[in-house]
Amino acid sequence: MSDKFLNGMKEKIKQLLVDAGSKSGLTSDLVFDVGYSSDPKFGDYASNIPLVGSKLLKIKPADLAKKIIENLDQTIFETVEVAGPGFINFTLKNEVLIQAIEKPPKPEINKKEKILLEYFQPNIAKPLHMGHLRTAIIGDVLKRMFLYLGYKVESDTHMGDWGTQFGYLILAYKKYGEVNDKLYAQLNSEAENDKSIHEQAKQEFVKLEKHDTENRKIWQNLVDESKKQFLQINETLDILPFDHHWPESFYEDKMPVVLQELKKKKLLVESQGAQIVNLSAVGGEDTKNLGIAVIIKSDGGTTYLLRDLATFIFGKKQGFAKHLYVVDNRQSHHYKQLFAILKTLGEIKEGEGVHIDYGFISFKGEVLSTRKGNMVLAEDVLAEANKRVAKIIAEKNPDLKNKEKVIHAVSVGALKYFDLSRNRHSDIEFDWDKVLDFEGDSGPYLQYAYARLSSILRKAGLDGKFTDVAISATEREVLFKSSILAEVVQESLKDYLPNILANYLFNFATLLNKFYHESPVTQEKDEKVKDFRLALISSAKNVLGQGLKLLGIEPLDEM
Ligand code: ARG
Repeated sequence: MSDKFLNGMKEKIKQLLVDAGSKSGLTSDLVFDVGYSSDPKFGDYASNIPLVGSKLLKIKPADLAKKIIENLDQTIFETVEVAGPGFINFTLKNEVLIQAIEKPPKPEINKKEKILLEYFQPNIAKPLHMGHLRTAIIGDVLKRMFLYLGYKVESDTHMGDWGTQFGYLILAYKKYGEVNDKLYAQLNSEAENDKSIHEQAKQEFVKLEKHDTENRKIWQNLVDESKKQFLQINETLDILPFDHHWPESFYEDKMPVVLQELKKKKLLVESQGAQIVNLSAVGGEDTKNLGIAVIIKSDGGTTYLLRDLATFIFGKKQGFAKHLYVVDNRQSHHYKQLFAILKTLGEIKEGEGVHIDYGFISFKGEVLSTRKGNMVLAEDVLAEANKRVAKIIAEKNPDLKNKEKVIHAVSVGALKYFDLSRNRHSDIEFDWDKVLDFEGDSGPYLQYAYARLSSILRKAGLDGKFTDVAISATEREVLFKSSILAEVVQESLKDYLPNILANYLFNFATLLNKFYHESPVTQEKDEKVKDFRLALISSAKNVLGQGLKLLGIEPLDEM
């Protein structure tokens, strides 16, 4: 998101620096950064404003730094220091952090702007494999983050239920009397030796598009069954309910208008019986390498691309200012073509359509794909996770109450976190030891840190309050990290990278474990110190719990 953000701390410091900068000879449009310090030794935040500004004013960075600090309103800071070659480090007053914790900053966002967020788009009559879970998990977290910050977002699943491949399903049904993935695969392999099968399948889809009653009925049954399974898995995975179920077939009656528009603008040309847009010939420099986009196939069937053109235009008519698609990176070219055609049609402006892509997931080095026999099914992985977690819990905490519920929440959390903690652009290799590493960078580790905080508060029986006591470096860090959740979420949404939030939570949990060992609570004699620590624990628990919920992972009071 490129909106102007936040009245969080970074923005506030930036504003103070702009003011101080203009009193020091800089212009207010200077581009500089305010970021977190790499180490608490160097304060909470750091800025490169002296470095950037000195180049323009042709003076020494250190001299400019001094000048800016002299002119700076320092009310919220404990210390402000010149650092390194051209930086300023800032440490906030504890009371300022406490305020931010008690009343988290609300970002300034464009509330009028509605966002359509599309993810988890399985194809009917095909089993879900691990790759499908990535779009579900990533999309769900993005929705949660948008909602948390107050954005207007609506989710859509866009189930794949239209296109030539559904001709195969219908043909399989007619040949074998039922359809499942094995039969679908069987037909596909028969088609390799028998060219006429492909032809027949194509015809079945053409018939479907022409409203053939029998084909419609077969198709509708497959759609209904798939939707039931889809809703089921959403519940199992604790994915927020979808606001819209607009599958590909929903756009059936919305394609002709687009086709006409393409014709009117003279973009459509005939090539070998098909209707295409030649992106090398139309549009500008940026579309030159995008080649040929097929809009209508030579058999008259509509294409996936045409449906996506209709999808975007429909979304726009519904008042959505942005259309975000969480889809794997094999479809990058498709989205480039889509956006290029929309641009030529005058339907899209920069940033209004975004392909939020993600890499492959492999399992013992094999890429997962529905067309291969070695695919790993989502339900198998879930069942395996449950089995393994049950075993670990039986060893660690045999007397646990609500065991089934906890096992489920830990399994789902572990699978989600493994995905979310990695940059979505990278391919990921599934590894059970890492997924379920209770001591390492994992979902269970975060849930465990949370359960520990809960347990302390339960034993103490009170919430404490922030008193004015001397605090340790670790406690100060807990205080600071507890104050920045909203800012981190904003950062995470900027390039749609949930791993930024996940990594922050992991560091936070690690810090909390350190704090737990260094600062005992129940045995603490000094009431004021005890109060402070309890208050710190209770706010840290809220932050960690909120963070976990944003990741779609259930915080557990006991595990
Ligand atoms: N169902 C498609 C697939 O599995 C993904 C759909 C992505 N969304 C879209 N609007 N094209 O490949």
